Amino acid sequence: IRLEVMPDHESASQRVADLIADQVQRNPVSVLGLATGGTPERTYAILSERVCSGALSLSQITTFNLDEYVGLSAEHPQSYHAYMRRHLFDVTDVRLEKTHLPDGAAVETGGHSGSRVCEAYERLIDEAGGIDWQLLGLGSNGHIGFNEPGSAGDSVTRIVELAEATIEANSRYFDSPDEVPRQAVTMGIGSIMNAKRIVLIATGAGKVNAVQQAVRGPMTPDLPASFLQRHPDVTFILDEAAASELE
Ligand code: F6R
Repeated sequence: IRLEVMPDHESASQRVADLIADQVQRNPVSVLGLATGGTPERTYAILSERVCSGALSLSQITTFNLDEYVGLSAEHPQSYHAYMRRHLFDVTDVRLEKTHLPDGAAVETGGHSGSRVCEAYERLIDEAGGIDWQLLGLGSNGHIGFNEPGSAGDSVTRIVELAEATIEANSRYFDSPDEVPRQAVTMGIGSIMNAKRIVLIATGAGKVNAVQQAVRGPMTPDLPASFLQRHPDVTFILDEAAASELE
């Protein structure tokens, strides 16, 4: 794992935006894997500014998001479909028909709809030729995507139960913790590891332990991000707060 420690969240966001812009300028038809959450919001805002000023075009990229809540429609303001439209797709020249998120709304409890949704997503990624460049955030419990502690290193896209810590963390976006969906569809760790290049952004003191264990700890399902140690091309972009336990 390559480490880049930037002074603060703003400079880390600029760095990730630069890396995405470099990738797209080198290969305008890149297939990008994208993350949601609070951390990459600023990165997306910077990309949007660059597209609006004419410095960058995202019009030929194809995108696949890591995850989506089960049971939220694309129109629900806290769905990741809505997040991506708000922060990137509707405010840049990304073509909506080239964007993909797991169809969390199509998953019904108890039926086979879940496995159909998951298999269809894996197939779409394959048909696009795989992911060239994957952006990740990091949960304070070490999750990537919604691969919570306990996830296997070779897991594929599947329906998962969210950890209590994740429900708690994400309840800041909902009126109450009761409204946070209990399940999500997430790309697996194996699906993420198939990406040719991976960049993880983690900022703030809340990520210190997860960063330390992901980088220096043993590879273990207890800390899903630790599996990134065996990928040949991973960069962690950190701010000083998140990196403070790495000597
Ligand atoms: C979301 C995702 C999650 C987040 C993680 C950190 O698509 O993949 O793994 O990256 O929960 O979230 P924030 O950035 O809100 O701390």
